[in-house]
Amino acid sequence: MKTALISGASRGIGLAIAEALSADGYTLFLNGRHPETLEPVCQRLGAHPVYCDVGIYADAAAAFDRDVWHYTDHIDLLVNNAGISYVGLLQEMDPAEWDRVISTNLTSVFNLSHLVLPGMIRQQKGAIINISSIWGQTGASMEVAYSASKGGVDAFTRALAREVAPSGIRVNAIACGVIDTTMNDHLDPEEKADLANEIGLGRFGQPEEIASIVRFLAGDAASYVTGQILTADGAFI
Ligand SMILES: NC(=O)c1ccc[n+]([C@@H]2O[C@H](COP(=O)([O-])OP(=O)(O)OC[C@H]3O[C@@H](n4cnc5c(N)ncnc54)[C@H](OP(=O)(O)O)[C@@H]3O)[C@@H](O)[C@H]2O)c1
Repeated sequence: MKTALISGASRGIGLAIAEALSADGYTLFLNGRHPETLEPVCQRLGAHPVYCDVGIYADAAAAFDRDVWHYTDHIDLLVNNAGISYVGLLQEMDPAEWDRVISTNLTSVFNLSHLVLPGMIRQQKGAIINISSIWGQTGASMEVAYSASKGGVDAFTRALAREVAPSGIRVNAIACGVIDTTMNDHLDPEEKADLANEIGLGRFGQPEEIASIVRFLAGDAASYVTGQILTADGAFI
């Protein structure tokens, strides 16, 4: 039975990935910070909850000791999905907010990769999939920290893929366009309609459409694919 750990799996894209991998028969370890949202998901999918702030290494390492290594000695698939956005002018951004975006979106990818890699290297196989954003490629006004964090995720993906390929481990990322989750709740209905009109396919993506790419990248169909940033944006950028 294959094991998968998904960060930020209580809702949105992470939840859709958890549902897809559950259907594929993975033993799941699902991360989030809040029992009230994560616990019902874990009960429904028969998954192990892993409670921690993924941006804080000591917190994540303690959670792995408590909630993961007790049940398995390795993770076959890591999906680094947890992330937060920040919309606002850079000069008005509090330095603490900068740190929060970078630690949640980028340092977390280091933290969880660092924790699972020894087991993957022992197995001489494994896959890491990072959920990135098109803004990491183009940059978005009012989202400088977010764009920088996702650009960092893309570079991390390419570099780590080269480093661990000799151990049979693949590392890829998905650069999402606008996906219909609570992350876009700051937009009112009119703003959402205007934004959808700018997208070639004329609509936001659905979390399930990202989950199906995770399924592909995780599976044998993608056994020769590594170091790639796969864009899924409905022809937006
Ligand atoms: N939606 C989009 O348009 C879009 C576009 C491009 C890329 N993405 C990326 O897709 C990923 C998922 O986004 P989403 O739209 O599904 O967002 P979402 O609905 O807001 O879900 C975010 C998830 O991450 C968790 N999370 C946040 N901070 C965390 C932390 N420090 N430690 C552990 N868990 C944390 C949240 O759980 P708790 O808050 O309960 O802990 C939640 O489960 C993110 O990396 C995001 O940048 C999204």
